[in-house]
Amino acid sequence: MILKKIKMVNFRNYKLFENKFDESINILTGNNGAGKTSILEAIYILSISKSFRTNSFRKIINNKEDFLQIFGKFRDHKNCDVNVNYTKKEGKKIFFNGSALERNTDLIGKIPVIILSPSDQRITEGPNSLRKNFINQILCQVNEKYLKKLLNYNKLLKRRNSLLKNYRNKNKNKYDLYFESLDEQLATASQYLTQKRKKFIKEFNTRLQENFQKITHLDAKIEMGYKSKMQYDEDNYQNSFLDDMKSIFKSDLDKGYTSKGVHRDKIRIYFNGNNIREVGSQGEHKVSLIALKISEGDFIKEHMQTSLIYLLDDLFSLLDKEHCLKIIKELSDENQVFITTTDLNNIDEEALSSKTYSTFNISGGIS
Ligand SMILES: Nc1ncnc2c1ncn2[C@@H]1O[C@H](COP(=O)(O)OP(=O)(O)OP(=O)(O)O)[C@@H](O)[C@H]1O
Ligand SMILES: [Mg+2]
Repeated sequence: MILKKIKMVNFRNYKLFENKFDESINILTGNNGAGKTSILEAIYILSISKSFRTNSFRKIINNKEDFLQIFGKFRDHKNCDVNVNYTKKEGKKIFFNGSALERNTDLIGKIPVIILSPSDQRITEGPNSLRKNFINQILCQVNEKYLKKLLNYNKLLKRRNSLLKNYRNKNKNKYDLYFESLDEQLATASQYLTQKRKKFIKEFNTRLQENFQKITHLDAKIEMGYKSKMQYDEDNYQNSFLDDMKSIFKSDLDKGYTSKGVHRDKIRIYFNGNNIREVGSQGEHKVSLIALKISEGDFIKEHMQTSLIYLLDDLFSLLDKEHCLKIIKELSDENQVFITTTDLNNIDEEALSSKTYSTFNISGGIS
């Protein structure tokens, strides 16, 4: 997939931004605060429907305005248009090829985008939830059924938690048919999610090690680990799940939430066998993150059979110039790449000489 053209209205520091892009490498340059990352953010929203910087679209609307719009023209085997509108009053509406999507999540999986930004460093350094989001987002993009099961699981879990609180307030403490019915549905979703996550990690790890070795001279073993308390025999999954949920029912009632389930799965990154969160040096975190992101791209590309759009925000802050240029070159062999930098000296014309690329000077809307 290739982004040919974008138009942003009232987006961050832009009143209006319109631009056509190169099919290969796009270098967005400009001072701090010029609006480079905002362009990547808009492209990301056209793919995932959400921002990677905030959960609140209100914060994205240009000062004092009350709506924003983003239009994107993409090309793959055929052309497609995405239009995201947001008003403070009516919220978000997304159109794909002119038709309104029923749910925002219907956009996911249509335009594969990989973002690498400095804040992603928290994937290796931060809490488990971020690594879980990382794998969920990959699986949701390539597998619509996974997305539906995950949404369903989260809905059921919310219902179970509010039922627990309700029973606790009414001093009811019997595991009854309401809970049994919810837990049966949770078991079905949980079995599917566990199985897909397990399979994904196995497949992903081969790529992760390969990519790690490609981008660094470090002689180390990198691996993603998956721990779930909900791994039972496939044949006996439903019964074992229900037994477990019954056994934790009383303590869940006291707590007012569901203490066991795939929402508690643990995803870790191991560096030479140790949890990278506990042992990783800054450099090791950086190269591991880049290897994770390139492997994410490889996985999505293989499953979706389309080229990707890579958004590399401030890549030069993660690695030395020579390594960055090598990565940009390699990624642009088969994908469209956007890269932001304040310093055009980072772009070594000789190193990129075999490639076509365009440079855009960004300064709050003027390209
Ligand atoms: N809702 C908004 N309305 C107006 N301006 C905003 C809004 N949100 C952010 N800004 C401003 O937009 C500008 C552009 O931010 P952006 O992060 O895109 O800059 P950047 O070019 O990536 O800078 P850097 O090189 O420092 O990363 C910043 O000055 C920011 O404070
Ligand atoms: Mg920026």
